[in-house]
Amino acid sequence: MRNHLRSYFRIFAALALVCVLGAVTHVLSQGSSQAPTGFSTPTLNTDPGSQSFSNGFPEPSGDTFGNDQSHFEEQDGVDNGLGPLYNAQSCVSCHQNPVTGGISQVTELRVGHNDGNGNFVNPSISINDGQNTVPNRSLVNDRATCPQAQERTPGSENIRTFRTSLNTLGDGFVESIDSNTLVAIANNQPSQSGGQIEGEFIQVPVLEAPGHSRGGRFGWKNQHASLLSFSSDAYLNEQGVTNRLNPTDTTTVCKTTPDPEDTNGADGMADIDHFAIFMRATKAPPVDSVLLATNDAQTGQQLFSAIGCNICHVTSITTAPAGTVINGGAFVVPAALGNKIIHPFSDFLLHNVGTGDGIVQNGPADTANKMRTAPLWGVRTRDRLMHDGESLTRNEAILRHAGEATFVINNYRNLSTTQKNQLITFLNSL
Ligand code: HEC
Ligand code: HEC
Repeated sequence: MRNHLRSYFRIFAALALVCVLGAVTHVLSQGSSQAPTGFSTPTLNTDPGSQSFSNGFPEPSGDTFGNDQSHFEEQDGVDNGLGPLYNAQSCVSCHQNPVTGGISQVTELRVGHNDGNGNFVNPSISINDGQNTVPNRSLVNDRATCPQAQERTPGSENIRTFRTSLNTLGDGFVESIDSNTLVAIANNQPSQSGGQIEGEFIQVPVLEAPGHSRGGRFGWKNQHASLLSFSSDAYLNEQGVTNRLNPTDTTTVCKTTPDPEDTNGADGMADIDHFAIFMRATKAPPVDSVLLATNDAQTGQQLFSAIGCNICHVTSITTAPAGTVINGGAFVVPAALGNKIIHPFSDFLLHNVGTGDGIVQNGPADTANKMRTAPLWGVRTRDRLMHDGESLTRNEAILRHAGEATFVINNYRNLSTTQKNQLITFLNSL
C-alpha cells in the first residue's frame, strides 16, 4: 500500500515537473510578456512614496523607488541651485497628473527666427538691461530668482510656441525600444499609406556617452534618446540646476551657488541619477478597463485601426531583450524592461501633420515643422491637447491633423457621428 502510494506520488511528481517545464519553455519560446501598467506613484497622500510600486527595475544598493520618487518631488530653492532662470521648483510641478511622473497643464515657451535661407536660428536673449545675454537657446524661462535675470521675448523672435508637459510614466520601456524597431516602423509606413506617411527618425547626442548618438524618442521633437540625458537637460533648463552633464548655468546674473549644483549624495548618486531611475522604474499608463470593455469603445478601437490612425499611433511595440546595451554603452536593458510588449499608441517618429511649430531641436532643418506622434497611452488624463495645448476637445485635436495625416483624417470625417463618438470613447479609455 505504502509502495503504491509512493509510486503514485512519483508519477504525480513527474507529471507536475513536465507541466512546470512545459510552462517555462512556453514562456521562453514566447519570449515577451505584457509590460506592467498602473498609476502607482501617488503624490497626493499623507506619506508620498509609501504607496508607490515600481515595475521591478533593479534599485542600486541603498536606494529605493520611494526615495527616487522623493527626489523627483523635491522642491529646490536658491540655496541648492534653483535658477537664476527657471520654470518651476521641482519635476513633479509639471509631471503630476494623476500621479507623480504624469502630465500637467503647465506649458513652456520656445521662440526663435529664420535666417535668410529659411533655416531656424536659436535666439540670444539679452537680460539685465542689455548687460548680459542668454545665448543660443530657444527656451525662454518664465521665472527668475531676481528681476535683472528675467528673460523677455524680443520682437525679432517671430517664431513662437507653447509646449505642454509630457507623461514620463512607462518611459523606461520607451528607452528600451531597439532603434531598429522604430526604423522598421518608419520604413513600413509608405506602403501602409500609399506613400503619404513616412516618419523621420533623428539621431541625437547621448550626453552620458560623449561622442555617441542614438535615435531620439523623447520630447515633442524627439530631442533626446536617454532618460538620464533628459533629466540633466530638464534639471538645467526647467529648474536652473547645473549638473555633471550640463555643468554651466544659463547666466551668471544673480547666481550665488558654484557649478555644478547637483552633486553626488552619500549614496554616490546625484539627483539626475535618481530622476532617471524613477522614470525607468515606473509602470506604463493603464487603460480604463471598464470603459474599454464597452461595446462603444470596442467598436471605436476597431475604427481607430480601420481608418489608419494606427499607422502613426502604433498600438503595440516590443522592447529589446534584457541584456541589450543601449545609450552608447551607458545602459543595459534589465529584465524588468526587456522583451516587454507596450501599447504606447505612438511610433516615436517625427511627422508633418500641419501643426509644426517651426522650431528645430537636435534634428536637421527639415524637422522644423514636424512633431513626434503624441503617445496616446494615458491621454484620458489630458484636457489640453496637442503640443501647444490649444485643442480643447478630442474631435478638434483630430480635425487639426493635416499634412501626412490628411487622408486618415478624411476617413475620420467620413465616419457617422455615432462612429466618431465611438472612436472618441475609445480614446477616453486610454
Ligand atoms: C516647468 C515645467 C516642467 C518641469 C519643472 C519639468 N518638466 Fe519635464 N517636461 C516639461 C515639458 C513642457 C516637456 C515637453 C518638452 C518638449 O518636448 O518641448 C517635458 C518633457 C519631459 C520628458 C520627456 C517625456 C517623453 O516621454 O517624451 C521627460 C523625460 C521629462 N520632462 C523629465 C523631467 C524631469 C526629470 C524633470 C525634473 C528635473 C522635469 N521634467 C521638470 C515640463 C517640465
Ligand atoms: C501621420 C501620422 C498621424 C496620423 C495618421 C494620426 N496622428 Fe494623431 N498625432 C500625430 C502627431 C504628430 C501628433 C502631435 C501633433 C502636435 O502636437 O502638434 C498627434 C496628436 C494626436 C492627438 C493629441 C494627443 C495629445 O496628447 O495631445 C490625438 C488625440 C490624436 N493624435 C489622435 C489621432 C486619431 C484619432 C487619428 C486617426 C483619426 C490620428 N491621430 C492620426 C500623428 C498622427
